[in-house]
Amino acid sequence: MIDQFGRLIDYARISVTNSCNLRCVYCMAEKNELTSEKLHLSVEHIIQICTAFASLDIRKIKITGGEPLMRKDIADIVRSVKNIDGIKKVTLTTNGILLPQVLEDLSSRELDGINISLDSLDANSYKAITRRGSVNDSLSGLNFALNRGFSNIKINCVVIEGLNDQEIENIAALAFDKNIAVRFIEIMPMGFAKQHKLVPQDQIVMRLEKHFGQLVPCSGNFGNGPAVYYKLPDFCGKIGFISAVSHKFCTSCNRVRLTAAGHLKTCLHFRNGVDLRTLLENKVSQAELICHIENAILQKPVGHAFCSSFSEYEEEFADMSHIGG
Ligand code: 5AD
Ligand code: SF4
Repeated sequence: MIDQFGRLIDYARISVTNSCNLRCVYCMAEKNELTSEKLHLSVEHIIQICTAFASLDIRKIKITGGEPLMRKDIADIVRSVKNIDGIKKVTLTTNGILLPQVLEDLSSRELDGINISLDSLDANSYKAITRRGSVNDSLSGLNFALNRGFSNIKINCVVIEGLNDQEIENIAALAFDKNIAVRFIEIMPMGFAKQHKLVPQDQIVMRLEKHFGQLVPCSGNFGNGPAVYYKLPDFCGKIGFISAVSHKFCTSCNRVRLTAAGHLKTCLHFRNGVDLRTLLENKVSQAELICHIENAILQKPVGHAFCSSFSEYEEEFADMSHIGG
């Protein structure tokens, strides 16, 4: 559907759980399990919501978390959402660790793309960032997905000053001999991420060009949203940038988010939206559900205010594991 600022909203990111097998420093508290309850929607509720999305021409769905593969019924979720009339594309964002288990059950026809969060290739830094993961497990997930013939595989690397900014070249080199996109993400000042320092896109570009040669923009549209893609000389894959702070893209924002608690969020930075879970628990009709979603999207804020001290909307206080990164 079209929002009040003329933006086509055709993409929803659904957090299917707030739980995770890692504890990335910018995303979760170390002792998360003691401080927050596990939240997730039932498969039936996810299907009902995605069916409503489809009737509003929201046709692309990203399954995210937390870590979506923590759910035992994740293959069922992917398959059921993909089977909804009007849903064209279902993709997944994961830290990769549990991919080998899950991809036994899913084919590349059922899952249209996989984003793997990988902030470091160095065992110690990976551990320092994720607090409990092993980089080899995440890389095994990547290799498993490649060997199984999945296409549209992307690496997401959130670049943080002092934590992994020394590794930009090494991480980019993953796209040298693999047909994948390595995307560098500017950390957004939400929740725990406020304690970390962003590395701006222009700085990353400078470093990559010094090391590998000129970045040449790719024409065409490769994903659901705001990433811009480039080629480096002799690289098989692509390099992408998602720079919400230094290259704000709110004017072309095409998305809404469903939190693990079932709240439809219309902007990452603000609390605007509607509690769909309560509506569903109160047995709202499908027509009413669609109407609530439509009204919420019509109130979608014009954009984030990460760089200003004032905003007319109430700021989000939840961390990314609840919202869906
Ligand atoms: N800023 C940018 N990206 C973030 N992610 C989680 N928190 C943030 C943040 N504050 C990313 C994860 C993952 C994706 C799901 O969202 O690293 O790649
Ligand atoms: Fe887990 Fe992703 Fe958050 Fe890391 S960023 S703790 S992998 S949900």
